[in-house]
Amino acid sequence: MPEKILVQADYILAWNEYFEIIIQGEIVIEDSNITYQGPRQERSLESFSRVISGDLVMPGFVNAHTHAAMTLFRGYADDIPLMEWLEKKIWPVEARLKKEDIYWGTLLAICEMIKGGTTCFADMYFHMEEVARACWESGIRASLAQGLIGLDKIKGMTGLKESKSLIQNWHRKGDGRITIMLGPHASYTCPPAYLQKVMKMAEQLDVPIHIHLAETRGEVEECLKVYGKTPVNLVNDLGLFEHDILAAHCVHLSPGEIDLLAEKEVAIAHNPGSNLKLGSGVAPLIDLLKKDALVSLGTDGAASNNNLDMVEEMRLAALLQKGLGEDARAIPAQTALKMATLNGSGALFLDEEVGTLRKGSKADLIIMQLKKPHLFPLHNLLAHLVYSAGSSDVDLVMVNGKVLMEKRKLLTIDEERVLFETQKRALELVKG
Ligand code: NI
Repeated sequence: MPEKILVQADYILAWNEYFEIIIQGEIVIEDSNITYQGPRQERSLESFSRVISGDLVMPGFVNAHTHAAMTLFRGYADDIPLMEWLEKKIWPVEARLKKEDIYWGTLLAICEMIKGGTTCFADMYFHMEEVARACWESGIRASLAQGLIGLDKIKGMTGLKESKSLIQNWHRKGDGRITIMLGPHASYTCPPAYLQKVMKMAEQLDVPIHIHLAETRGEVEECLKVYGKTPVNLVNDLGLFEHDILAAHCVHLSPGEIDLLAEKEVAIAHNPGSNLKLGSGVAPLIDLLKKDALVSLGTDGAASNNNLDMVEEMRLAALLQKGLGEDARAIPAQTALKMATLNGSGALFLDEEVGTLRKGSKADLIIMQLKKPHLFPLHNLLAHLVYSAGSSDVDLVMVNGKVLMEKRKLLTIDEERVLFETQKRALELVKG
């Protein structure tokens, strides 16, 4: 007998064919899938193993770009620009990271993400077998990429070998929750010949590619100096956009490059918090969306954000563009919500399996509490979610039909132990 769960709510934010809020609705979950979503029906409750009720049910957030284990460096190196931040602070401590550090750092990130309503994330880092283990144990959904650096021939080849075994060991594992991508870090750390090797492997093994692209003005200037082309044109000329690509940042783009990204259907992970904090700039979000580019939302790592809070990221994405464009209509609440959910599913090449509560989609959902002073009175649900809510309003989190958090208590992770381990390990790491 498959496990059958009934979720009833005052409001269901469903993301149907067209945008819809169902009032006094319900969702039926059988095993990991949604089999009914709509108005309440006469049912015999005895056929359900559980009945859950709440104020608002909506799809879980998809964090489309992060480096989960960087939670270990949260608050360690702040107020420094990207290249200096990487070269002087982050890369030296990252060189000391051991496998177990990555495991615990990732678990800390997963604790934070689940508590904030994130049910799926795209990660790029190293020792990814440990990241996969943390995802497998915690029950969250993730698309994982080993970060590849191609500046050193031996390290570059080792990274590709590790990626291959990661795919063999983990792709579509954990009841399909875990998928693998290839993760060439960026065009400035992966020269053209190496990127070509990555593309060849992506084609052979049929996996998407996750890369950082056009994050800073300095990156674009350096690329022009070395190759006579911008990073976007460089990787396009190499044929990268003929593959399934998730490109993080895309801050510094010309109008022609915006057209190109949209036309080639490159999935973009917009990271407004990290771009602001590292002083990298603001991505041309309005122009990208005008051209129908697929834009999702990410937090980037916790050392450059400094949290993994998708509610905050939605608000930043919307407010930043309104202020900069002097246009209150720019990025309405509905667009911000869609970027944080359904578009994330597309960006992770999950074929709208998540980020929506349609019949047939995976049961990755969250329940938000609405009976709180900062959410009263209720005129417009979408406006509340983007402009008034906080991630701590998330009360229950379900991934693949399994409840991972209830009444804000994590059910699959020993939160206290994770806090203890990460504090101890983080202090040892920065001591050197
Ligand atoms: Ni990043």
